[in-house]
Amino acid sequence: MSTPTYSPGLEGVVAGETAICTVEGGLSYRGYGVGDLSEHCSFDEVAYLLLHGELPTAAQLQQFHTRVAAARRLPPPLKHLLGELPKWTTPLDALRTAVSTLGHFDQDAADNSHDANLRKAERLLAQIPVVIADHYRASKGLPEVPARQDLSHAANFLYMLRGTEATATEVKAMDVSLILYAEHEFNASTFAARVIVSTLSDLHSGITGAIGALKGPLHGGANEKVMDILFATGGPENAEAWTRAALARKERIMGFGHRVYKAGDVRAGILKTYARAAAPAAGAEKWEETADIMERVMAAEKNMYPNLDWPAGRLYHAMKLEIPLYTPIFAMSRITGWAAHVIEQLDNNRLIRPRALYKGPAARAVKAISDRG
Ligand code: ACO
Repeated sequence: MSTPTYSPGLEGVVAGETAICTVEGGLSYRGYGVGDLSEHCSFDEVAYLLLHGELPTAAQLQQFHTRVAAARRLPPPLKHLLGELPKWTTPLDALRTAVSTLGHFDQDAADNSHDANLRKAERLLAQIPVVIADHYRASKGLPEVPARQDLSHAANFLYMLRGTEATATEVKAMDVSLILYAEHEFNASTFAARVIVSTLSDLHSGITGAIGALKGPLHGGANEKVMDILFATGGPENAEAWTRAALARKERIMGFGHRVYKAGDVRAGILKTYARAAAPAAGAEKWEETADIMERVMAAEKNMYPNLDWPAGRLYHAMKLEIPLYTPIFAMSRITGWAAHVIEQLDNNRLIRPRALYKGPAARAVKAISDRG
C-alpha cells in the first residue's frame, strides 16, 4: 500500500465532487454569484435553487412557499420537550435536540430516495425557525406566536420571535444574511453531514451532526463571539490598543480569517452594507466604528480579513436580536446547503472513509497485567 499524503485539517484536500457551490472565481451557488443572488433574489428563491437545482418560476416559488408554510408547525411532544429543557440549554443545543427529535415524527425518516429527502428537507426548512422561535419564547416565559403562512422564511421567523411584523428593511437585511449563509461547499458542518449520510444513515441524522459541528467558535459559533469581542474593546477609543494587546496574547479575533479565503470573504463585504445601514436606528454606530478600526489593525498586523460572521453578528445586534440566537439563525439558512449536500451524497454515494497517519507506539506485545508496573 502506498503511503497516504497528509494535510493537517485536510487543508487544500479535494474530498469530493459537487454541483452545488464553488468558491473558485468568487462564491457561487449552482453557477449564480452570491452578489447577484443577494441583490435580485429572496432567500426563499435561493433555498429553492439549492434544493431543486434551478431558480424557481413564479408558479414554482408559489407552490414551494405553500408547501413550506404548511409545514411550519411542530409535533406537540416536541413543543412540550422544548418547554422542559433545562433553563441553561442554549438555543443551538435545543435546535440540535429538536432536529434529532423531528426525525422520529417524519413519515419519510428512513427513506433515502431523492424525492423523500427533498420532502424532508423542505419540512426541516419550515420547522427550524419554529423551533428557534418557540424555544426562545418558552425560555423567556412568553406565550408562543403561531407561524404565519403568508410570510417569507425571514419575515415569519422575525414575526414568531417578536410577535410583531418586521419592517421591509429588516426583512431584506435578514434575507441577505440568510442568502450569504446558505451554502459554502465542504465547510466543516456540511462535510460532517456528508460523512454521516455516506454510511447510508439518514437526513435527520446528518443535519443533527451538522448542527453539532456548526456550534464551535471556529465555525458558526463565531458570529455569537463577534459582539462579545466588540463589547470587550469598550468602543472606538480603545479598539486599536485592545486589538493589538489581544494579538500579542495570541488570541483569535472571532470573525476574522478563513481556511479558504486568505484575501477576504466576498460575503463580508456584501453584508457590511446592511450592518452599517441598520446601525443608526439601533444606536450602534459606535460598534461599526470599532469594527472599522479592528479591520484596519487586523489587515496591517496579520494580513487577515473579516469573514461573514463579522458583519452578521453586528447586523443581528442592530436588529436587537439576542446573541445566543445568531448561530441558530445561521442554521436556519444553512439547512438548505446541508440538505442539498446530503441529497447529492445519497444520490451518488460512496462511503467517506479516509486514512490516518499513524504516530503511535511501534508494534509491541501485551504483558500480563501483573507485569505492567
Ligand atoms: N485572529 C487572530 N489570529 C488568527 C485568526 C484570528 N481570527 N485566525 C487565524 N489566526 C492565526 C492563528 O493563530 C495562526 O497563527 P500562528 O501561525 O502564529 O499559530 C495562523 O493565523 C493560522 O491559523 P490557522 O488556525 O492554522 O488557520 P486556519 O486556516 O485553520 O483558520 C479559521 C481558519 C479557523 C477560520 C481561523 O481563521 C479562525 O479561528 N478564525 C476565527 C473564527 C472564525 O471567525 N470562524 C468563522 C469561520 S467562517 C464561517 O463559519 C462563516
